[in-house]
Amino acid sequence: TAKMAASSVVRGEDAFKKVFKFYKRKSPPPDFSDVTDFSKGLPSDKIVPAVLDLSAVSDGEAARAGLQPVKSWRAFGLQGYPGFIFISNPFLRGSQPFWIRQCLKTYPQKPNVCNLDMHMSPSDTQDIWGQSVHGLSSSPSGKREPKTLLERLRWVTLGYHYNWDTKTYSANHHTALPADLHLLSVQITAACGFPGFSAQAGILNYYRHDSSLGIHVDESELDHSRPLLSFSFGQSAIFLLGGVRREDPPTAMYMHSGDVMVMSGQSRLFYHAVPRIIPGPQGQTALEMEGCRLAFSSQDSTLGGVLSEEDWMLCTRYIQSSRLNVTVRQVLGPGQRFPETPSPPQKTDASQAGGVPGQTSQRRKEEESSL
Ligand code: OGA
Ligand code: MN
Repeated sequence: TAKMAASSVVRGEDAFKKVFKFYKRKSPPPDFSDVTDFSKGLPSDKIVPAVLDLSAVSDGEAARAGLQPVKSWRAFGLQGYPGFIFISNPFLRGSQPFWIRQCLKTYPQKPNVCNLDMHMSPSDTQDIWGQSVHGLSSSPSGKREPKTLLERLRWVTLGYHYNWDTKTYSANHHTALPADLHLLSVQITAACGFPGFSAQAGILNYYRHDSSLGIHVDESELDHSRPLLSFSFGQSAIFLLGGVRREDPPTAMYMHSGDVMVMSGQSRLFYHAVPRIIPGPQGQTALEMEGCRLAFSSQDSTLGGVLSEEDWMLCTRYIQSSRLNVTVRQVLGPGQRFPETPSPPQKTDASQAGGVPGQTSQRRKEEESSL
């Protein structure tokens, strides 16, 4: 073809970085023909059906978390990525707006921690939602309005609060992880064959259309044998999944609204990144938001009450141009405790072979570049 596909630029050192730059490029836009789309998910030579434990979660339990019965989930594995499971939007029609509202209105509230706390007082960040309702909902007036707090929100931490500077979690910086998110995580992991998962830490990332997330490995958790969960809402993204070395060329895949990823086994410590946000399939988010209105008005919602008209409006407006990602992590193994004195993050094969110091600061830099 006239355009150069990603698969042709992956020779040499740090193949991951080359592919990252390939997909991040603004103009001319890259060729997306190599990007795997699980939503069109007919198993190919690369995509294989994932085996789920159909008895681990009852249909009623699934519905309580806004999930379809496990038997109707479309779950896939990827050849060459042991332990990686992709579940193509397992949410019940109309339940995504509940989770979107939690991410925008509820989870940023104290005692949870967000990027705005780094340079604002607790009293100024205690009502991000309330302070943003007017600015975000008012129609564009031509003149440049200051950004609302919600538009400046980049990350929120839950449970054991991740320390971006030391790249560690600690026993003394912990608040309760939201019960609804814990329930959702326990059900997904149980269905994927990981009973007894404990959702102990959450990192929420808020992406604008021009945001990206740098190449990194999530290795700060003390027990790497437990899976890492990722939920995506709103606009779509290109996700790159590599291997334990930066030289391993990554596979590119779309993450659409509602998609869930489970990184377990070997892939738990694989390099990954989000080079690009792309508009979701035409009208998909709008449809989903309308579905929420129907679901909530028919009174059979199990996700605790209706979204007010105002909440619905603001979520709709936000999600039209943004993407939310929630990762849930088990930090400690069963019976495990934090070491008495804070210790630097453990070196893994991945970080040594990668040979790139501070890959997590790279990750943070990418996030801040869009502030
Ligand atoms: C992370 C992460 C990926 C995404 O937060 O560690 O890798 O899809 N997020 O936003
Ligand atoms: Mn990650």
